[in-house]
Amino acid sequence: MARFLARLTAMNDGWAQPFGAFNLRWTRALFRAITPIRDLLQGRWLGHPLHAAITDIPIGLLLGSVVLDVIGQPTAADITLVGTILFMVAAAVAGLADYSETEGVALTRATLHATLMTVALVALVVSAVMRAGAPTDRTIPIALSIIAFLVVTAGAFVGGDVVYVAGNMVSRHAFRGAGTRWIRLDTGTVADLALLPEATPTKMRAGANDLVVVRVGDTVRALHDVCAHAGGPLHEGRVVDDCIECPWHASQFRLTDGLARKGPTVYDQPAYEIRAAEAGGYEVRRMPAH
Ligand code: FES
Repeated sequence: MARFLARLTAMNDGWAQPFGAFNLRWTRALFRAITPIRDLLQGRWLGHPLHAAITDIPIGLLLGSVVLDVIGQPTAADITLVGTILFMVAAAVAGLADYSETEGVALTRATLHATLMTVALVALVVSAVMRAGAPTDRTIPIALSIIAFLVVTAGAFVGGDVVYVAGNMVSRHAFRGAGTRWIRLDTGTVADLALLPEATPTKMRAGANDLVVVRVGDTVRALHDVCAHAGGPLHEGRVVDDCIECPWHASQFRLTDGLARKGPTVYDQPAYEIRAAEAGGYEVRRMPAH
């Protein structure tokens, strides 16, 4: 079953790939021109992707509307359908903000997902318009709602693949535990962190982890080098005010504690304390999450 569904999904790659590349251009241009609104829609303020938090509402409402139609409660069904449409539009706008920073297989799958949801939305709007005319025979609007529900179910399945299979909008530090012990910081050829060039991200190693280390004035800060958004190398980024900016999609993390200050990340970055080791050199420990 899993292989059949995967093949069915992949059969759409032929059109979804170029259509996704086209859509990425205009959505990226649009949302990068309004980054505060994009961040709001993506859910940085929530620390969680907003699209995923909204989508259950219209699916639940639509199911409710279909059930109310079937049991003969037309007024309640129609009101619930209008709620479905409104929440679907809200979910679509939030999803479009995520889409604008999506790449690769995730973009192709997200294009299929968005197309299915748009088809369902159009069917629901037509159904609602027909209902508004108070028809004596409600067969067609009810059939449209049922078809839309089936299309939404397929779209939700593909949307799940975007997250669970392609890993889009998943924190790159999801499986990293909290730090409990100090570990040696391999500073390479840098013997004294006070001599690091000012505000210049430098990659260093601590155990199994790469860190980006930055000196600003008398203070030296360290964050994990792998960007929480999609894995960009922060040591190739730049320091902007009190943050480091990722070179891939320009997310910004506060150097003091890794707090996400600008999207598209909705997740904070692991931050590390640094201290001089008794035996010489330096050691680091991950700070508690916010
Ligand atoms: S990888 Fe996307 S902002 Fe860093």
